[in-house]
Amino acid sequence: MNNLISQSHIWTTLKNHQKYLAPVQMQDLFALNEHRYEDFSIEACDLLLDYSKNRLTKDTLNLLRQLAIKVDLEAWVQKLFTGELVNNTEHRAALHVALRNRSNTQIIVNGKNVMPEVNLVLEKMRKFSNLVRDGEWRGYTGKTIENIVNIGIGGSDLGPAMVTRALRIYQHPRLHSYFVSNVDNSHLGDILTRINPETTLFIIASKTFTTQETLLNAHTARDWLIEKLGDESAVAKHFVAVSTATEKVTEFGIDPVNMFEFWDWVGGRYSLWSAIGLPIAVMVGMERFEELLTGAHELDQHFATAPILENLPMLMGLIDVWYSSFFNTTSQAVLPYDYTLKLFPAYLQQLVMESLGKRVTRNGDVVDYTTCPVIWGAPGNNGQHAFYQLLHQGTHVIPTDFIVAIESHYNLSEHQDAVLSNALAQSHALMMGRNLEKTKQNLVSMGIKDNDLAQQLPHRVFLGNQPSNTILYKKLTPKILGSLIALYEHKVFVQSTCWGINPFDQWGVELGKNVASMLLPTLQEKNNDRISHDSSTNGLLNYIKTHRDNIL
Ligand code: F6P
Repeated sequence: MNNLISQSHIWTTLKNHQKYLAPVQMQDLFALNEHRYEDFSIEACDLLLDYSKNRLTKDTLNLLRQLAIKVDLEAWVQKLFTGELVNNTEHRAALHVALRNRSNTQIIVNGKNVMPEVNLVLEKMRKFSNLVRDGEWRGYTGKTIENIVNIGIGGSDLGPAMVTRALRIYQHPRLHSYFVSNVDNSHLGDILTRINPETTLFIIASKTFTTQETLLNAHTARDWLIEKLGDESAVAKHFVAVSTATEKVTEFGIDPVNMFEFWDWVGGRYSLWSAIGLPIAVMVGMERFEELLTGAHELDQHFATAPILENLPMLMGLIDVWYSSFFNTTSQAVLPYDYTLKLFPAYLQQLVMESLGKRVTRNGDVVDYTTCPVIWGAPGNNGQHAFYQLLHQGTHVIPTDFIVAIESHYNLSEHQDAVLSNALAQSHALMMGRNLEKTKQNLVSMGIKDNDLAQQLPHRVFLGNQPSNTILYKKLTPKILGSLIALYEHKVFVQSTCWGINPFDQWGVELGKNVASMLLPTLQEKNNDRISHDSSTNGLLNYIKTHRDNIL
């Protein structure tokens, strides 16, 4: 217990400070300080962060800064950037910053500079993506490639899928991309009915090349291709792999020449900057992919050098700790007012929750404070007509990130102003709310009176004081996107450091995997004799077995 940060003086001070701030209304803080926006907003790497609509004051920030100092945040950032084994349970570095180290300064892992290898793989990606895009890489029957099917899951799917969707405006006109992750028949099965094997390239993306879902999908895709083209040797023209496991890739039947390597010091959910980004490079071109890396690199430099309270990821991370551990909030909404970021909330769910969804510290001590929030969200205007009711009038405090593009890549008149006015209106309304008196005036002005007024009044009041950040950028270019993603990656690192958590392992996904492999044979047996799990699992297994028509 003694190792927990919650035993420190600064933690107690923050707790007391929270008690003082809990009843304070943000609208009063705005009324007291007409420069609140200027005082609580910051710009770096072409991203503007307005964090003025948060339940904090300058005192809060100073205390959070002291917390950052207490946990040695800046020293931890150095460890991250210099290849120390920050992933202590797997004895690994976590060097996603090396993948986008555009200044090419040396970064040593286990006594070796990793930059030459990083650059070699980037070069291989450049050559390959150019061949596909220029129509020079041809399928088995001599046709140019038109469909790119990425088969992977988790970090080998969510990052590249999100970025490819976000940068669709830049994509090659001949190419279509598909991302297959689920083992459900209706994912791969559906896509296979819509593509031509002669013009399809499968990218099998798996760091370990042991992931059940990916291997099953990859084998099925391979069998489908061989059946359609009638020759096993067609595989060489239609399958490439991205992995750290050369032997397993070879066993699967992909020539290592067609394998793009990465390394165990790249975490799955931090891997889109590596060869896992191959579908991005193919779809939008290597130059755009490199712009993405540049954006992330600039944010890395900012993170490594800016003082704590002028540092975007540090500010965002500390504010998140403030809400989770002192207000005990348990969820956080991410609301992009930029439809191209449609998949960003799903991507962040893995980044944040697989990294921080933990209840023990690096040393194995059980924490006595709330850690990772549940991350959820959807593009802004859609969410407004779905779940914003809960943000405005529910019983939870839900810190929210509004992510807003000032301009769109498309020029439909009026649309962008509609998006911007909605985004700003929502953060304003969440903060201000509408009190009883104003609500009453409003209803009276609408001609509502007497019993009807009394009955309607409580339903129409908005308590407000719901906190939010707003992140603004001009237009979602590859570079801006790179900076935005890196901002969230580093914000997670800041949270993990404050909580003493290792953000780079994911032991929590193991148990379910083990049980699934135990249940699989039971499901495939004809009789029910050997079913010996809990009665619910037994009952469900039996029900499935007696209600399905075919066992494949
Ligand atoms: O869900 C667990 C996990 O290990 C993720 O961390 C990872 O991104 C995903 O599975 C896929 O792993 P792989 O790339 O090894 O197939």
